[in-house]
Amino acid sequence: MSVLKVENLTKKFGKFTALDNVSLELQEGEVFGFIGPNGAGKTTTIRSILGILKATSGKITVFGKDSWKDAVEIHKRLAFVPGDVSLWPNLTGGEIIDLFIKLNGSNNKSKKEELIKLFDLDPSKKCRTYSKGNRQKVALIAALSVDADLYILDEPTSGLDPLMEKIFQECIRNLKSEGKTIFLSSHILSEVEQLCDRVCIIRKGKIIETGSLKELRHLMRNQITIETKSTVSDLENLKGLYGLTVRDNTYNFQADADKLISIINHFNSYGIVNLESMPPTLEDLFMHHYSNGEVNSNV
Ligand SMILES: Nc1ncnc2c1ncn2[C@@H]1O[C@H](COP(=O)(O)OP(=O)(O)OP(=O)(O)O)[C@@H](O)[C@H]1O
Ligand SMILES: [Mg+2]
Repeated sequence: MSVLKVENLTKKFGKFTALDNVSLELQEGEVFGFIGPNGAGKTTTIRSILGILKATSGKITVFGKDSWKDAVEIHKRLAFVPGDVSLWPNLTGGEIIDLFIKLNGSNNKSKKEELIKLFDLDPSKKCRTYSKGNRQKVALIAALSVDADLYILDEPTSGLDPLMEKIFQECIRNLKSEGKTIFLSSHILSEVEQLCDRVCIIRKGKIIETGSLKELRHLMRNQITIETKSTVSDLENLKGLYGLTVRDNTYNFQADADKLISIINHFNSYGIVNLESMPPTLEDLFMHHYSNGEVNSNV
């Protein structure tokens, strides 16, 4: 069943087109990654879904209802973490979390307490004294304490340290195992890669790719460093290898994900002493595969 459906969404701010014909769909129980660089249109899409912004044209339905007209009804079944968490400065973190839970009509105290412990938040502090990461925790705990059907999280881990990010990922996996639907925006590819069933890439207001990570693998190139015992020959005949630099017996290059095994095998016949692999970043992906949003097959 489709939980969220965005059809040909266009949003203009004056003459500026922030979203151009955006379409996407989330099925029930799915973790969906929405990735794109700064200014791509992620928050604008999310605000439109939430009924905060009115679409210039196009249609958005959440739980089969109209996101603009039926916003109140939709919001009863939805939890949300905003991209820029600005909290009321004179309330404590705990008061804000309670307020959000009340607004949602749920009252799950034990879940809230569990999350406060898990994220190691001091809820008694006034919000103006929280660091960026702690403000983010308040918003996350408030959203995750609510028993919703759809969770919309706009860059939820920005400002969190790696340990907290791990805890967040664990929370998302738990929600997924309960059959919840999750919409997760980020500008870091490797972050959503861990969690998402499907990923949608937005750039300059346009969707440029949607699919499972397996389907998008062809876009990914890992950065590889290999050191071998003896000098490797026949490198020019290897498929899927790019940007090679060699120093002594250390080889630096990018490799297509689907050619990785055959490349490693080739190197291994010369005795691999050391191997490092870095996952592709969103920036690498754009640089290597796109110019003006079109797939560039020559690169
Ligand atoms: N209220 C507004 N008025 C005018 N332009 C806006 C408004 N809101 C957003 N924009 C513009 O729309 C574009 C998309 O912005 P948006 O905030 O959706 O990007 P984003 O993908 O969320 O970026 P980030 O990763 O930095 O959060 C940007 O060029 C932004 O300047
Ligand atoms: Mg944003």
